[in-house]
Amino acid sequence: MSSEAETGNGDPGPILISDDELAACITELGSRITADYQGRAPLMVGVLKGAFMFMADLARAIELPVEFDFMAVSSYGSSTRTSGVVRIVKDLDLDLAGRDVILVEDIIDSGLTLNYLRKNLAARNPATLEVCALLVRKGRQYEDLDLRYVGFEIPPDFVVGYGLDVGERYRQLPHIRQYQPNGNS
Ligand code: IMP
Ligand code: MG
Repeated sequence: MSSEAETGNGDPGPILISDDELAACITELGSRITADYQGRAPLMVGVLKGAFMFMADLARAIELPVEFDFMAVSSYGSSTRTSGVVRIVKDLDLDLAGRDVILVEDIIDSGLTLNYLRKNLAARNPATLEVCALLVRKGRQYEDLDLRYVGFEIPPDFVVGYGLDVGERYRQLPHIRQYQPNGNS
């Protein structure tokens, strides 16, 4: 069966991280978070839209009374290059004061988005603030980002799937694929 038939979305490129690898990694991250936050009820803050699928699976791997909120930021527009500009498109609904906040990100590339969000959330006086990123692109960050939980370190190639898009497409893929703009899509 072609990927086109599988996804209705064309074939964006080869698989980099399979659904099984994602599941195993997320089970492991969930266990670590469960152990680290015993007796507490962390507030998971998902960064839309890219983190929605990761957040849903990660939450099901955590055996604690977690709560959820989401914010949406815009840093890329619809292209594959960063503009360096981060804009809050949707803010949180909940108060972070005194909460154990876990910021859930799809991918850390330059780290600009994360740096901005971390400062923004820290200013709201959470008790603790940690980051859980599914993907970190190797060698692209200018400073140490102090990431408590990381799923996979990936090579420079742009990736899609499992929440990540290019021009809003491919988010529903159950795995992560390398994006090839001149592929057969
Ligand atoms: P940063 O600010 O450069 O770290 O970029 C982070 C944001 O850019 C992520 O939250 C994604 O929305 C987007 N992004 C970066 N790399 C990719 C990619 O390979 N595929 C899809 N989105 C990406
Ligand atoms: Mg995006």
